[in-house]
Amino acid sequence: MDRRSFLKSTGVYVTGSMLAECGMAKTLSAPAESSGGRLIFPLNQNWLYSVAAPVGADEQSFDDSAFERVVLPHNTVPTSWHNFDQRAYQVVSQYRRHFRLPDDIGDRHVFIDFEGVMTATTVWLNGNKIGKYEGGYTPFSFELTPYLNRESENVLAVEVDSRELPGVPPFGYQIDYLTFGGIYRDVALRVVPSTHIENVFAHGVDVLSHAPGLDVEVSLQSLAALKESLALEVTLKDGDAVLGRRIQKFTSAVGGQKLLQQTVQLRDFGVVNLWDVDRPYLYTVETRLLERARVVDHYICKTGFRTARFTDRGFELNGKIMKLRGLNRHQTFPYAGAAMPARVLRKDVEILKRELKCNMVRCSHYPQSRHFLDACDELGLLVLDEIPGWQHVGDQAWQDKAIDNVSRMIRRDWNHPSIILWSIRINESHDFHDFYVRTNALARKLDPTRQTIGVRYFQESEFLEDVFGINDFGFPLKAPNHPLYLNTEFVGAEFPTRPWDDNDRHREHILRFAHVYDQLASDAQYAGGLGWCAFDYATHADFGGGDHICYHGVMDIFRLPKPAAGFYKSQCDPSEEAVLEAGFHWAENDQPSGFKRGVICSNCELLKCYIKRDGKWHQIIELKPAHDEFPHLTYPPFFLSLPDGNDDWGDLRIDGYIQGNKIASKSLSGLGIDQKFSIHCDDTELFADGADAARIVLCVTDEYGAIRPLCNDPISISLDGPATLIGPKSLALVGGTAAVWVRARQEEGSVRLTAAHPQFGVQTIQIKLSAVPAERV
Ligand code: GAL
Repeated sequence: MDRRSFLKSTGVYVTGSMLAECGMAKTLSAPAESSGGRLIFPLNQNWLYSVAAPVGADEQSFDDSAFERVVLPHNTVPTSWHNFDQRAYQVVSQYRRHFRLPDDIGDRHVFIDFEGVMTATTVWLNGNKIGKYEGGYTPFSFELTPYLNRESENVLAVEVDSRELPGVPPFGYQIDYLTFGGIYRDVALRVVPSTHIENVFAHGVDVLSHAPGLDVEVSLQSLAALKESLALEVTLKDGDAVLGRRIQKFTSAVGGQKLLQQTVQLRDFGVVNLWDVDRPYLYTVETRLLERARVVDHYICKTGFRTARFTDRGFELNGKIMKLRGLNRHQTFPYAGAAMPARVLRKDVEILKRELKCNMVRCSHYPQSRHFLDACDELGLLVLDEIPGWQHVGDQAWQDKAIDNVSRMIRRDWNHPSIILWSIRINESHDFHDFYVRTNALARKLDPTRQTIGVRYFQESEFLEDVFGINDFGFPLKAPNHPLYLNTEFVGAEFPTRPWDDNDRHREHILRFAHVYDQLASDAQYAGGLGWCAFDYATHADFGGGDHICYHGVMDIFRLPKPAAGFYKSQCDPSEEAVLEAGFHWAENDQPSGFKRGVICSNCELLKCYIKRDGKWHQIIELKPAHDEFPHLTYPPFFLSLPDGNDDWGDLRIDGYIQGNKIASKSLSGLGIDQKFSIHCDDTELFADGADAARIVLCVTDEYGAIRPLCNDPISISLDGPATLIGPKSLALVGGTAAVWVRARQEEGSVRLTAAHPQFGVQTIQIKLSAVPAERV
C-alpha cells in the first residue's frame, strides 16, 4: 500500500488535500477554507481506555489519569489465538477522548461517526448523554453540536458494552463465531453546514451501450429550513480528467431530520471503461452543494460502471456469464479480535484474489469493514454483503433492528461496484414471512440496481428474494430448485481439517471441494459456489474443534494455506499463474496409510515426477489431469501413486508442462528432517500512526522450502523499536507455521523483530515506520 492509498483508506487528515470519499467518516476531506465545505477529523488516536467502566466516567471532570492510552481500532482484551474463554472480552468498558475543536469550524454542525463498535455504545459529551446505539457491525452517528465547547476542552465518554446482548442481532441464541469487542473500526468528527450532503448513491445507466449515463442520487439534510435556492454540481472524473459535469438547481422549505432527495443525471460523457474483475476500473464522482457560487458542502465517492445480474443461465457480469468461485470470510484474527487496521484487512482481499484465485467473497455473516470493501473494488473481487445474523430471529424489536441493519448496510455500501448481492435474510434461519417481505422490500426500494439473496439450509424454504442462496453441505449437491441459484456454503463445516492432519484427510478435504466445483460446472443454473470457508476462525465452546476454533478454512487462522487452498489456486488460467501444489506431506508414513494416491493441484497439462536416488533425479511417472473423475473442471487435480518398482524413498520433484514447455516445478525432501527456520513480513514499511500493522509469518521447512507440517517448535520473539507485538513473545508453531503481527506506535523510526528458533538460530526483519500527520483534533 503506498502512502497515497494509505491516506485515502485510513482517512488521515491531509492539509491541503481536497479529497473526501463517500460515506461516514470516510476520509479526510478538504482543509478549513473559505469554501465552507465539510471537514472530517479522524479521531482514532489519543483515546483513554479502562477495561471496566468506573462510576462517574461519563462526567467531564472524571479523573482518567489511570486509563490506558490506546489507538483505534481497539479490542477490549487481547486473547490467545485459541483455547480462551470467550467471556474474557465480553466486558463493559470505558473509552474517553479529550479534544479541542479547531477554531476554523465556524458555526457548523459537528457529528461523531462510528464505523463499528461491538456491541452497544453509549456516548456522553462533556457530561451530557448524547445517545446510545445497539449493533456491532453497522455504522452510526450522533450530533454533538449542542453540547460542544467551542473555545475550551471537550471530553467524549464512550461506554462500550461488548456482551452478547440478546436483543441485538446476531445475538439471542447460539452463534458459531466470536464477535469480540471494543471500538474496533474508525471514528471521526464530521463538521458540516446546516444544509449538507448526507449521502450519495451513484450508479451507471445503460452501462453497456455506446451512451452510458450516471444517476447520482443525493440525500440532503437540512437542519434549518432552507431559505436560499441551492444547486448541486456533480462531476464525473477519470483520475484528474473531467468526463462530465452538471449543475442542477433546487429549492425546498424542508427542515429538520427529514432527508431531501435530488437526482442529478449525467449523460453524454462518452464510452467508459467497465469495472470488471480483471480490470476493476474506478471513477470518481464529486458532488458539491452550492449556494450561489459558494461551495457549501462537498462529497466524493468512487463508482464503477458494470452490470451484474443473476440469470437462469448463471451470473452475468457486463453481459458475460461468469461462474462464481469464492469463499466465505469472517472478519476476525488471532489475538486482536476484529480490531485490525486497513492494511491487514486489505491483505485478506489480496489473499482471496491473488493466492486463492477467488472471484467472489461472502461477508459471512455481517457487513465487514469499508477498508475490506474498498480493496474488493480496487482488486476486483465480487462481494455478497450480508446483514448480521445467524439462524436466530428474535421478537419484533429484534426484527426492527435487523430491518434497520438492512438500511445501514445498503446506505453505507451502495457505491461499491464489487457488491453484487444484498443478503437480507438471517443466515440459515427459518421462514419468517412478514419479516422477510420487509427486508426485501426495503432493499429493493433503497437500491433497485442490485438483486437480493437469502441464504438458507433447506430448499423448501419460502422464496422471497431474487436469488435463492443455499448452504448445501451434502454431496452430490441438490439440483437447483429455482432458476437463480447460488451455493453459498459447502464442505468445510462437515469436514474440519487441521494443517497437521494426515494425507488421507487432506486428500479428502481437497477432493470434496473439487467434486463440488465439478458439479457446479456441470449445470449452468448453478451460478457458482462460495465454499465454507476461507480462514479458520474463533468460535464458541459449543462449536469448533474443542479449542474454540472452527478448522473449516482452506487456510488456517493465520491466513496460511492448507493443501485445499491449492485446489482453489489451481483453478485460475495458467496465463495468470502456473500453479503446482502438492496436496500432501511427502513422508513414507505409518502403515496402513503409507504414501498413496497423493493429490496434486495444478493447472498444467502434464506433470512429470522424479525421485532422487544417488544424487540424481529419475523420472518415475507422467501424470495427466483426472478429467475422467472431474469431467466438468477445466483444471482437475492430478493423482500420484508410486508405480511398482519405485519403493526406494527419496526426494520428490514434480515438473509441470503446458504445450511441451516446463512452466512450474516443486521439490519435496524425502529426508523427513526439519532443516530451516525462516520468517517473512507482508510489508516492511508501515505508517507510524499507532494502528498500522503487518503480519510476520514464521515457518520451518525442508531444504527445498516446503513446510514441515508436524513441526511444533517453540519460537521466541523480541521487538526493538517503536512498535508493539500483536501476539505472544513466545509461541509454538502450529503445523510448521504461525504468525504474529507488528503494530506501529506513533513514532517514526525503525523496528527490528528478532525470532529465535531453538535449533536453527535467529532470523530478523527490519520494518521502517514513516511519519504521518498527527490528528488535528
Ligand atoms: C453453517 C453456518 C456457518 C458455520 C458453518 C459451520 O451452517 O452457516 O456460519 O457455522 O455451518 O458449522
